[in-house]
Amino acid sequence: MSKLYSRVTDEMNYFEGKDPVALAKEYQTPLYVYNERILRQRCRDLKNMVKYPNFVVDYSAKANCNLAFLQIVKSEGLEVDAMSPGEIYVERQAGFAPEEIFYIGNNVSAEEMQYAIDAGVHISVDSLSQLEQFGQLAPGHEVAVRFNPGVGAGHHEKVVTAGKKTKFGIEPKYIPQVKELLKKYNLKLIGINQHIGSLFMTGEAFTASIGALFEIAKQFPGLKFIDMGGGFGIPYRKEEGEAPLDIKELGEAIDRAISAFVKEYGEQVTFRIEPGRYISAECSVILSRVHSVKQNHDKKYVGCDCGFNVLQRPIMYDSYHGIEVYRESEQPSKGTEAVTVVGNICESGDILAKDRVLPEIFKGDVLGILDAGAYGFTMASNYNNRLRPAEVLIRENGEVVLIRERETLDDLMRHMIPLNV
Ligand code: LLP
Repeated sequence: MSKLYSRVTDEMNYFEGKDPVALAKEYQTPLYVYNERILRQRCRDLKNMVKYPNFVVDYSAKANCNLAFLQIVKSEGLEVDAMSPGEIYVERQAGFAPEEIFYIGNNVSAEEMQYAIDAGVHISVDSLSQLEQFGQLAPGHEVAVRFNPGVGAGHHEKVVTAGKKTKFGIEPKYIPQVKELLKKYNLKLIGINQHIGSLFMTGEAFTASIGALFEIAKQFPGLKFIDMGGGFGIPYRKEEGEAPLDIKELGEAIDRAISAFVKEYGEQVTFRIEPGRYISAECSVILSRVHSVKQNHDKKYVGCDCGFNVLQRPIMYDSYHGIEVYRESEQPSKGTEAVTVVGNICESGDILAKDRVLPEIFKGDVLGILDAGAYGFTMASNYNNRLRPAEVLIRENGEVVLIRERETLDDLMRHMIPLNV
């Protein structure tokens, strides 16, 4: 048997002819499996979405910062953003030049800001006090400023990053103070940026926000770039036929807004977007082994080894991930049933899917947890002293390569210092 309930991955030829059960055996579970072809396709979708020539896609590496993954993104001609020295460091290792990295700090220490200055990357600050700190550290330097366009969007209140209820960005009413600080420290404002939030499936909020951002831009002549942010959604409910974001329509709307703006602005500007999820989510499936199936009061629980230490999104945001079932044995399922799929972490909230209708599942089955490439591994942890999983990549020629080793028990001890008791 093997692929028992696998319509979504079958349609995408996700495993490129490889057997997920064999992959689970060879590399053990839980396992992040990436598909290079799909990753490259998503990069190309976005690179080609806007016709205006000075258009750059900065991949937002917080969604997935694996070195090999970043190397592929780089080879597709994308640039990157960064949120921390750690991201800058890995991006440099992946081959990105300093000028291809846009560091978008939020409440960062002077030491961290200095790291970014020394690394030679473009830097954005998102408060007056951070702008003052930047001016003190690097007078006369180039800088970008993140504004809050007043319009937010996102799949959960925790990921809406513009509008009235967020810590991010500078309100446009403080533009005079921004100008004063730029003057005080002789700073050159080379760019402005925004990010309205994560995961929108229609373009209205994004289009409205870029309108607001372009109004702000008009108050700053001489900008080299305007970064419109990320947030482009993907359909997580694929089994139910959820439609993807219409990239073509959004691209056309962005092109219209850009042409109107450049006519008025009258100078050459580069326009950037910084999507993370759109590029990285759909090219990854987590393989997880079922270790127990049981009835507890009125619910049937399927217990697997994908706890929230491996995939945090369901517990953190009540996020939905499609689940497939793969089986080695020929034992057939007796129809479908609603089950609650849980992990192996010592908390009742460790739930991957509530009351999900799936074919009858047996101990030993392998589950495929879909669309796990964005905010999957990057949010994984060692909670319960569990080891973070391995990551493998199915190359375009079908070869499977390990791109991150599974942690070992020694890794858990690596930074601990025993007492002499
Ligand atoms: N730019 C900035 C400044 C951001 O803060 C983010 C995401 C992005 C770009 C990329 O957003 P995307 O295109 O991936 O939506 N952990 C949450 C998402 C948090 C997003 C944080 N910032 C999740 O799993 O849904």
